[in-house]
Amino acid sequence: MDLDEAIQGRRAIRKYQDREIPDAIVSQLLALARCAPSSMNGQPWHFVVVREPATKRTLAELKNRYCPPEKKAYRADFLEGATILVLCIDLSRSNERTVENAVLAASVFMLAAHSRGLGTVYMSAYQAGKPELAKEIGDLLELPKNVQPVSIIPFGYPAEQPAKKDLRELKETIHFERY
Ligand SMILES: Cc1cc2nc3c(=O)[nH]c(=O)nc-3n(C[C@H](O)[C@H](O)[C@H](O)COP(=O)(O)O)c2cc1C
Repeated sequence: MDLDEAIQGRRAIRKYQDREIPDAIVSQLLALARCAPSSMNGQPWHFVVVREPATKRTLAELKNRYCPPEKKAYRADFLEGATILVLCIDLSRSNERTVENAVLAASVFMLAAHSRGLGTVYMSAYQAGKPELAKEIGDLLELPKNVQPVSIIPFGYPAEQPAKKDLRELKETIHFERY
């Protein structure tokens, strides 16, 4: 699959087949994710791959518990059916660009996964201004104090095929020289 096709075809996948992803594929995806750009080339990523059912259940419970009321319809129970990447950032290498550093690697990971026939969906592992969710995830995964979870990316072989996404008109969003 070429890059344009991967970018255009990727959709959020929340249902997965009960099929293990070979370690070699997981390693390939992480090897690609760490090619992402990072502030001052700090390469601050730590990739925690979660496969244990009890840990996955706890991550789902935490996401549900800390979900804001207006998003309660979007439950995280589907995490239990995936392999989960928790993308973390070493604050001592992130130059105060914690979220940007994580999200760029997340995006590479998701496209690389899609190009190999795997589905993903992006989720946040922290809440701005409220440290509790990130703290609980850190405790669960035994992250050192200087390592912060930023993204949760469940991935697996898709068991759903969402339709092509309706996109906003390009001309609504593009500005040349001035807004
Ligand atoms: C910052 C961010 C947070 C998200 N959080 C959640 C989430 O908590 N639960 C969920 O099911 N999907 C979550 N998503 C996935 C979006 O709902 C999804 O990407 C969006 O609807 C666009 O669909 P697409 O990924 O198929 O293009 C999140 C996406 C982003 C970028």
